[in-house]
Amino acid sequence: MSGAASEPDGATPLDPDEREGLRFRHVTTRGELNELEQANVQNGLLWLARRRKGDVLSERFMRELHRRMFGDVWRWAGAFRQTEKNIGIDPLHIAVELRKLLDDARYWATNGTYAPLEAAARFHHRLVAIHLFANGNGRHARIATDLYLEEYFDHPPVDWAAGHDLLHTNGRRDAYIAALRAADAGEYSALLEFVGM
Ligand SMILES: Nc1ncnc2c1ncn2[C@@H]1O[C@H](COP(=O)(O)OP(=O)(O)OP(=O)(O)O)[C@@H](O)[C@H]1O
Ligand SMILES: [Mg+2]
Repeated sequence: MSGAASEPDGATPLDPDEREGLRFRHVTTRGELNELEQANVQNGLLWLARRRKGDVLSERFMRELHRRMFGDVWRWAGAFRQTEKNIGIDPLHIAVELRKLLDDARYWATNGTYAPLEAAARFHHRLVAIHLFANGNGRHARIATDLYLEEYFDHPPVDWAAGHDLLHTNGRRDAYIAALRAADAGEYSALLEFVGM
């Protein structure tokens, strides 16, 4: 597989140990990997549509969702990241920070702290900023955010791609990554606009 240079801006490169977890030995290009992951994500969405409804704001569900989306491709799917990345907190703190985020997100919904899309934007940003997994965080967190909107606010999903392909470099992805970087600095307005507020 080709290296970090072929990743779009704002993606996290994999470490050699993580590459070891690839279930397909023959993959040599980023394009092939994207296709395998995309097929797996589609199966994950089917699982999601058929599953028995339960609380999405739990560590168990967050991990299960990732495993369903990426487990046919990566052996470590559904397991928290163990290596440092250019994005994300110290891997030792992932479980605790996730717990705080899930508690906060539940509190926001119960107390009407934010409008639904603002709660969603804040939830999404903190989830990707923690960066639970070695890869697939963006795709996982976009779906997790839509489930939060649906289950806690009875609100329709965010139009993340808005007619573009968020997995490749284009204006929409650039706006998404720029909005997340602004949110890293505590400035949420670009992300609120991005999610449609
Ligand atoms: N500065 C940042 N702050 C917070 N989150 C970020 C930042 N830059 C990128 N991200 C998030 O990290 C994701 C990339 O991480 P990762 O490669 O694990 O996810 P992915 O689903 O494989 O990739 P992608 O959605 O980017 O194709 C981006 O999609 C975005 O959600
Ligand atoms: Mg990635």
